[in-house]
Amino acid sequence: MQGLIIVHFVLLTFFCLKATSTWSHWPTRRSANTTSSSMRISTYNLRYDSMPDSITVQETLASLPDPLVVPQYLGKSGEQPWSTRRIKVAQHLLTEGGVMASFQEGLVRQVNDLQQLLGDDWSWIGVGRDDGIQAGEFSPVFYKTTVVDLISWDTFWLSNTPFEVSKFPGAGSLRICTAGRFTLNSPTGPTNFSYLNTHLDDQSDDQRRLGASLILARAKYEAFTTNGPVFITGDFNSESTGSDSGAYNITTGVLPPVPINATFAATYAVPNGTLDNFIMDDLKGVAPRFSVSGNFATYTGFNSPGDTSVFTRIDFVFGGNNGDWTADGYRVGTSLTDDGILASDHRPVFADISI
Ligand SMILES: *[C@@H]1O[C@H](CO)[C@@H](O)[C@H](O)[C@H]1NC(C)=O
Ligand SMILES: *[C@@H]1O[C@H](CO)[C@@H](O)[C@H](O)[C@H]1NC(C)=O
Ligand SMILES: *[C@@H]1O[C@H](CO)[C@@H](O)[C@H](O)[C@H]1NC(C)=O
Ligand SMILES: *[C@@H]1O[C@H](CO)[C@@H](O)[C@H](O)[C@H]1NC(C)=O
Ligand SMILES: *[C@@H]1O[C@H](CO)[C@@H](O)[C@H](O)[C@H]1NC(C)=O
Repeated sequence: MQGLIIVHFVLLTFFCLKATSTWSHWPTRRSANTTSSSMRISTYNLRYDSMPDSITVQETLASLPDPLVVPQYLGKSGEQPWSTRRIKVAQHLLTEGGVMASFQEGLVRQVNDLQQLLGDDWSWIGVGRDDGIQAGEFSPVFYKTTVVDLISWDTFWLSNTPFEVSKFPGAGSLRICTAGRFTLNSPTGPTNFSYLNTHLDDQSDDQRRLGASLILARAKYEAFTTNGPVFITGDFNSESTGSDSGAYNITTGVLPPVPINATFAATYAVPNGTLDNFIMDDLKGVAPRFSVSGNFATYTGFNSPGDTSVFTRIDFVFGGNNGDWTADGYRVGTSLTDDGILASDHRPVFADISI
């Protein structure tokens, strides 16, 4: 009898919780608006393949340790080869269930490996920044083809000659922006959006300010042309505060843009009086506070766990203030696992967006 009462109690509690979660909590926002659809997006600086080897993806998969065996806790330290890190990057992204995944620093091998690991449901856009084909680092955008359709895409260089493979004077590297238009297919119907992904310079603050100004102009053009939502993801190599925050401040409208190439400005001009106050919102600041979770820093280095000396927040997700989107959640994950392996010297950033 006592057992029966406990079972009843447990069942009742279960159904009450279930009823609460099903009917009053989780679907409220969704059912209040039948025209919007949601997606999880991410941005993740991979750390380039600095210790190249010839180990294939299949070989790494075949040599994964027995998952039931206790690992040597923090047995590894420091940077590990990409051939080891790639498994953890792909596992993390796949278990998060996103549909758009931006990366930075990926060399062509890394992009190809991710395509293989993420599987046939995924495709990607992007070019190598050093030749516009496949030399140097990519800022690729992966998208899940079962949910997202690609409409068009292009690359521009964050320099004084944006339509040519080119480097800004004084910058450490050639820098690019990958720009795509996509359709999110959801049960409520298709919705278009624009999506720009970048990696600003690590050495030149002038390059970062110019890059931010070019990307903001392009984002405004996207907003005007598509009349839809526009997002920017990227590693800005600079924080949102302090003396290096010029690029962030230009993106968010705190500082005016710097002058950009006239051909680029004319190509992406919008009529005067249109979207005059167009800027980008930092999704971390506009998502509901309780739904902003995980870590603060997005760059950790390959330092030992507990050493926060290089921690910074330099990887961002922005949405255009022309709207047609809401930020439902924001989370910075971790790249560290118990075995001591850091999947990258950055952490992945996830944003949940309704459009
Ligand atoms: C529903 O979505 C549309 C289109 O994004 C938006 O204009 C409207 O304000 C939304 N309504 C609510 C109640 O969220
Ligand atoms: C602007 O960019 C275009 C295309 O990259 C280039 O041909 C032109 O020379 C640039 N203008 C200036 C003033 O540098
Ligand atoms: C979405 O983009 C496609 C391709 O450019 C276009 O045909 C369609 O009209 C767009 N839909 C909306 C709602 O703007
Ligand atoms: C960016 O704006 C913040 C205030 O929002 C300010 O504290 C910071 O100094 C600005 N950065 C630069 C480089 O002007
Ligand atoms: C747009 O307006 C500004 C002043 O608000 C003016 O300086 C500029 O020349 C105008 N541009 C065009 C193309 O009309």
